[in-house]
This record gives sequence, structure tokens and C-alpha cells, in this order.
Amino acid sequence: MNKKITVAVIGAGMAGQAHAYGFRNATMHPALSEVDIELSTIADASRQLAESVSKRYGFARAVDSVDAVVEDDSIDAVSVALPNFAYAEVIPRLIGAGKHVLAEKPLGRSAAEAYGFATAADAAEVVHGVGFSFSRLGAIEAIETLLKSGAIGNIRHLSAWYLTDYAATEETPFSWRYDKSLAGGGAIVDVGAHIISVIERLAGPINRVIAAEARTLIPSRRLPAGTAGIGHGHAELSSETAAVTTDDVTSVVAELAGGGLAQITTSRVATGVPNSLGFQIIGSDGSIAFDSMHADEFQLFQPSSAPAESNGARTVLVGPEQPAFAYTIPMPARGVGSGYGAAFVAQAQDFVGSIVSKRPITSDFWAGYQTMLACDAVQLAAAGHSSVDLSDLDKSHRGPS
Ligand SMILES: NC(=O)c1ccc[n+]([C@@H]2O[C@H](COP(=O)([O-])OP(=O)(O)OC[C@H]3O[C@@H](n4cnc5c(N)ncnc54)[C@H](O)[C@@H]3O)[C@@H](O)[C@H]2O)c1
Repeated sequence: MNKKITVAVIGAGMAGQAHAYGFRNATMHPALSEVDIELSTIADASRQLAESVSKRYGFARAVDSVDAVVEDDSIDAVSVALPNFAYAEVIPRLIGAGKHVLAEKPLGRSAAEAYGFATAADAAEVVHGVGFSFSRLGAIEAIETLLKSGAIGNIRHLSAWYLTDYAATEETPFSWRYDKSLAGGGAIVDVGAHIISVIERLAGPINRVIAAEARTLIPSRRLPAGTAGIGHGHAELSSETAAVTTDDVTSVVAELAGGGLAQITTSRVATGVPNSLGFQIIGSDGSIAFDSMHADEFQLFQPSSAPAESNGARTVLVGPEQPAFAYTIPMPARGVGSGYGAAFVAQAQDFVGSIVSKRPITSDFWAGYQTMLACDAVQLAAAGHSSVDLSDLDKSHRGPS
């Protein structure tokens, strides 16, 4: 008999819809072909939105409260795609009800919150994962394998970025993302969590933040006239304004546990760059470059015997050798292109697969905590602290051993 896993999504906005899409397509993975993934419930404070998303993505019902999910014993696993401030209330309740939880990034507003979620989830013995969706791209899988095999030697240094333009103009209305008490941080937390998680997966953890500078370039924004739309909330503006207390752009210099130097820039005001997560990793025997705007390819340089005029980096196209490519798109041939939707399918497959097979998930709450330690360290360094060791921050959460 097939194993049945009943899933719900809380938050039907930009990220919640991507999770619904992921669950809907997760059985494309051969390891899950004998699993019935029952698409149970979409929950959102806006019932109208929950209803439209549940219909569009084939879920059985829509509800307008978290309670209906927490109290429904038939639901095994829940994606949480809520504004960062809502995690503190919702995640402990889900864990307390014995549900497996896949939480969007960032894992709350601080390492302290993330630590609380991780310890509670471990104690309850539920599967816990973080939506570091870029890490699920086939190209990142392929690069991780190459780096582990020593294809470019030891990592000497890297430069990495997440640049996006959603807040590039004053026309983007004020929302929870611009209030530090609600979001935990601006670009460094919102998009920085993604690029830091990718770096940590590929190049190992960040040990120490050496220096950071954070700037808020648009210091106040107008409130939306009515309800803001989902995602980055483009909406009609009122004349009322609110002060922005989170960073628009942050630059960081950090040291990796392996000794390499990392330079990271995160920006939500990157005029002309809609959405680019990328990096250039320089090793002792080669280098690798990637940009998510060309998600199915990366550049690999390895020394060769070719003459200088025909030597150089080559473009590698990702193909069906990568499970995140092979089992997430309907025609997985090299060159056809996959994309960000595939990452959400791979993420749902990993989450459901780890529930069914009782194997570790790729990015658990501890990975989310590690990323939040880095985000906290960057914010401390930007506030004027000299270099910040992540091990000191970690000890402050764990207490004396
Ligand atoms: N992985 C990614 O690429 C990605 C992309 C966007 C957002 N995110 C993350 O996803 C989370 C949500 O961001 P978003 O852009 O989808 O936001 P959003 O504003 O589009 O959606 C959030 C939804 O939550 C609902 N909501 C708010 N509080 C609620 C509550 N207490 N109970 C029920 N519903 C509630 C709102 O009505 C809204 O529809 C954030 O943590 C963000 O960082 C991740």
C-alpha cells in the first residue's frame, strides 16, 4: 500500500504559492512514486487569497487561520511561508502538534529565534527544513560535487552577491520588510540568507565576520493606500510615510572556516538587476562562477595544456546527471532549461523524502540557525563592532558546555 503524507501550506503569498507548486509536483521523483502526497490545506489571513491559491494548485480546502492547520490531526507536514515575525508564534505551535515543518528563509528574525526552533524541533523528533531554495538548483548540486572532488583545489577566496531591485525606487511601499522589529534585517537577512546558505553549503561555514557596512538609501517609504499585494507589495501609495529601519545594501568581508576570504554584497536596490544570486569561487587549481539569472549553467576554469589564446573558462550546462534537474522538469534534456520552479519541486521532494525515508534533509533548522548566526554577526559588525566570531555568538545561545 502507498504511504500517504498529508501536507498544508501556511501563507499563500509569493513563497507559499511556490511551495504549493513544489508539493504538487514532488512525486515526479522516482523515490516518491509510491507516496500519495495529499494536498490538504492552504491557510492565509486573507481567505480570498487562500481560496484562489488552493483552487489553482489543487489543494482540498482553504482556511483563514493557522489554528485550523495546527488542530487538524490528519495533516502530517506543513510549509510555513509567512512574514518573518510570524514564525515565532506559528512554528512552535506546529512542532508542538507533532507536524513536520519546512520553514521559509530566513529562519525567523535572529539566531536566538532560530536556535529555539531547532532545539524544539529536535526534541519533538519532527523533520525540520529551511527553504534555502537556491541551494536546490541542479547547478548548485553539480558545483558542490565538483568542489568536494577537489576540482579547483583549496578555496582561496570568493566573491558572492544577491542583487535584486524590488526596493530600488521610492514607489515600493512600506511593509514588514522595512521594519527591523518585524523582519530582523533588510537585504542582509531577506536575500542575504539565500547567498550565505549557498556559500556555506559550497565553501563551508563562515567563521568570522571581519567587517561590514550597511546602508539604508531610501530612509522612509509611503504606506500602501489599501492592502499591499503579495511578495514585494507594489500597490497604490498613501501620503503617510514610515521610517525604514532595515538595510537596503550591505557589504561584508568574512573568513571561511577553511581559511578562505569571502566578500559578499546584498542589495534590494540594485537598479537594473531584477534577481541575481551569484558567486565567483577562486581555488588553488581553478575557479567556478555562477549567476542564477542563467540557472542551468556555470563557468569552470581548470588549467589546461591549451595554448594561451584558446585557454579559458568553459561553460558547463547542467543536465540529467543532477537529480534536482532530472526529476523536476518534464523533459529533462540538457539545454532545455529548468529554472526556479524546479528548485521548489526538489525542495518538496527532499522534505517529503526525508519524512518517508527517515533520512536527513539537506538544510535543516540547524543550517538555518548557522545562517542566522552569520546574519547577526554581519549586523553587529555593521553597527560598529570589530570583527565578530560566530563561535562566540553560538556560545551565547547554547550557554556554557
Ligand atoms: N525562497 C524564496 O525564494 C522566497 C521568496 C519570497 C519570500 N520568501 C520568504 O517567504 C516568507 C513570506 O514572504 P512572501 O514574499 O511570500 O510574503 P507575502 O506577503 O507574499 O505572503 C505572506 C502571506 O502571509 C499571510 N499572513 C501574514 N500573517 C499571517 C498569519 N498570522 N496567519 C496566516 N496568514 C498570514 C499574508 O496574508 C500573505 O498572504 C518570508 O519569510 C520571505 O523571506 C522566500
